[in-house]
Amino acid sequence: MNAIEIRNLVKIYRGKKRMVVEALKGLSLDVGQGEVFGFLGPNGAGKSTTIKTLMGLIDPTSGEARIMGECVSSCRARRKVGYLPENPAFYDYLSAEEYLHFVGETHRMTDRDIMSRADDVLRLLELWDSRKRPIRSYSKGMVQRLGLAQVLVHDPDVLILDEPMSGLDPLGRALVKRIIMDLKARGKCVFFSTHITADVESVCDRVGIIVNGNLESVAEVETLMREGIEGYLVRTSSGGVGVETIVEPQKLADFLVETRRAGDEVTLVEPMRRNLEEFFLSVVKGGRC
Ligand SMILES: Nc1ncnc2c1ncn2[C@@H]1O[C@H](COP(=O)(O)OP(=O)(O)OP(=O)(O)O)[C@@H](O)[C@H]1O
Ligand SMILES: [Mg+2]
Repeated sequence: MNAIEIRNLVKIYRGKKRMVVEALKGLSLDVGQGEVFGFLGPNGAGKSTTIKTLMGLIDPTSGEARIMGECVSSCRARRKVGYLPENPAFYDYLSAEEYLHFVGETHRMTDRDIMSRADDVLRLLELWDSRKRPIRSYSKGMVQRLGLAQVLVHDPDVLILDEPMSGLDPLGRALVKRIIMDLKARGKCVFFSTHITADVESVCDRVGIIVNGNLESVAEVETLMREGIEGYLVRTSSGGVGVETIVEPQKLADFLVETRRAGDEVTLVEPMRRNLEEFFLSVVKGGRC
């Protein structure tokens, strides 16, 4: 069973003065259990609309979505999912500790489980020292980390995160990446949207690129990285003099053999690759699908 199944999702927003926005144009996608999926797209592409539909917060115009085999509007689906919204907002007169207890109660956890889980996630998200302060006194990054803490408290199977790295400093981003990798190791599915391609490169199994309501490309990150190698920078040393040469991928083996035969030392072989950002830009601009 897939963790997430999306079939032909169409969302048309209708507003005043006959305003019509076709935000999703027949999106289909499967994401497996234990998979980390990065959902990339420019502003207004339809990422949050997809995510809100997955959470049952908005109804699609047509099509359907399932979480762990359950229809997204059912209680059974919601029990299995944790959601970080794009702009998390909390009852800010509560402390983080009180808020996590409230979240645990809404998931019908026992008091004992809530206490131990809340303590764990407060420490994990580095909010332990501020746990008794009202949320209104938190910085933007602390609010974002509390957003992640409340996703983790009931230990869901599927985590749907709308821009989880947003507003975090490099330390906070590294922490979130570590948490995502730990979740993956525990067999959880993590589906997250982002604009930061480097974050996708380092943690995702697959990436989907959405442009203007269409899923333009779905690819394995490892394959993209491998196929993106355009050459190698080889540094050699001959009698203490260093030389750098750019070698085409198919000529690398011969080049290394020749270098050794000449008695020179190879001190560095570094792949020169097209990064995910360039791939993303080429998809968004219609260069490759
Ligand atoms: N409630 C709404 N009413 C009308 N149009 C909407 C509504 N919500 C979103 N849209 C429109 O739907 C399209 C997709 O918006 P969405 O918020 O899903 O994009 P996004 O990919 O999450 O963008 P961002 O990266 O800026 O968060 C946009 O054109 C947006 O203006
Ligand atoms: Mg959004």
